[in-house]
Amino acid sequence: SEVYRAGLSGTRPAVPVDPDALERAARKALPAEAFAYLAGGAGSERTIAANRAAFGRWGIWPRVLSDVAERDLAIELFGRRRPTPFVLSPIGVIELAHRDADLAVGRAAASLGVPYVLSNQASRPMEDVADAMGDGARWFQLYWSASDELNASFLRRAEASGCEAVVVTLDTHLLGWRTRDLDLGFLPFTRGQGIAQYTSDPVFAELVRERVARGAGGGPRPKVTPTLLRSALGIARAGARTPLVDGGVREALRSPLPRAAIETFLDVFAQPALTWGDLARLRDWTSLPVVLKGILHPDDAERAIDHGVDGIVVSNHGGRQVDASVASLAALPAVAARVADRVPIILDSGVRGGADAVTALALGATAVGLGRPYAYGLAVAGEAGVREVIRNHVAEFDLTMALAGHRSVGEIGPETIRSA
Ligand code: FNR
Repeated sequence: SEVYRAGLSGTRPAVPVDPDALERAARKALPAEAFAYLAGGAGSERTIAANRAAFGRWGIWPRVLSDVAERDLAIELFGRRRPTPFVLSPIGVIELAHRDADLAVGRAAASLGVPYVLSNQASRPMEDVADAMGDGARWFQLYWSASDELNASFLRRAEASGCEAVVVTLDTHLLGWRTRDLDLGFLPFTRGQGIAQYTSDPVFAELVRERVARGAGGGPRPKVTPTLLRSALGIARAGARTPLVDGGVREALRSPLPRAAIETFLDVFAQPALTWGDLARLRDWTSLPVVLKGILHPDDAERAIDHGVDGIVVSNHGGRQVDASVASLAALPAVAARVADRVPIILDSGVRGGADAVTALALGATAVGLGRPYAYGLAVAGEAGVREVIRNHVAEFDLTMALAGHRSVGEIGPETIRSA
């Protein structure tokens, strides 16, 4: 009712409520490369379309006269009560949407009690985002690096930054075939964007130092500290904001320190040889709950539980990795049947409103992850835009739950929907 009342008093929303209009507004607000990176997917983008189409195969089946005057949206996740079943999925390089980047998202999430998954490819170091969030709930998302020392360092920092869980994303051991970015010749990391967790890390600084020393032909080891790295990258990235035609960016990134940092990042970013056997090492690095993101097959869900994980995220990375992948929502029922409530399931990829969240919960999810919509909100109206996108999802979820005849999230179940 708050959302409607704002309309009554003549206040226009800061961001469009309609998800397609929101995407169009973000497109208008952003340079072509930034929008392509945020909106784009793998190959012919069939997975993005499939993610949406999968929701259309289910219909909510409303029940009447069930006293829904008082409602409770809370859930329990990783031992804590959460005010709603929404979390913010990790989005890297979010400086492409707005200069306040992860800080603005963190503040918006914290103000609404929605957990924010800090991306491994964030534009701001996790310590800065943690400061901005105060005691707001945050988890850290790890891309398993080829350097175990770096993995251990990231997780130490995540614990020190008050992260409540570690989300290990397993679907990006190789970067997907991102058609729009390929056509624009655009990879933000090579411009020093989206590598703030690395350039703020002491272990990463040591790796860069070794690389520079090798390049310098074994002379005295150069001084490389996270502070120095960040300021060198900062200068290079300031150059990156000037038009590419003037060659300023390329010049700046050719200077030795930024170049060494970016090359080191490209070397250590991922570990494509990773197997289930490696997962045990996580427990040497952290005592936080471990969540595996990018699970789509019930056999993988089973193995995840065998390996003692605390939760899984059913996701196809918003269609950015495998073209023609099974839709995330289409994979959910079989995964949920196998998991049988042993661990919580978070569903993301294609959630574009509160009714989608009701559908996902009816099919067995404990919570849903928001992706692109909050990045679009950030692009259109900064922190206030993110807050509004989250509030709109929560408000529509509350309404849909009530109109379906439920008073609380626990009442949403298989009976809530039928195939459309
Ligand atoms: C992502 N996603 C992502 N996932 C992750 O684990 N680490 C990351 O750094 C990123 N980065 C990222 C950047 C951008 C621009 C997008 C759009 C997505 C995937 C994200 O967490 C989530 O799975 C999807 O966004 C969900 O799909 P929808 O809702 O955006 O369609």
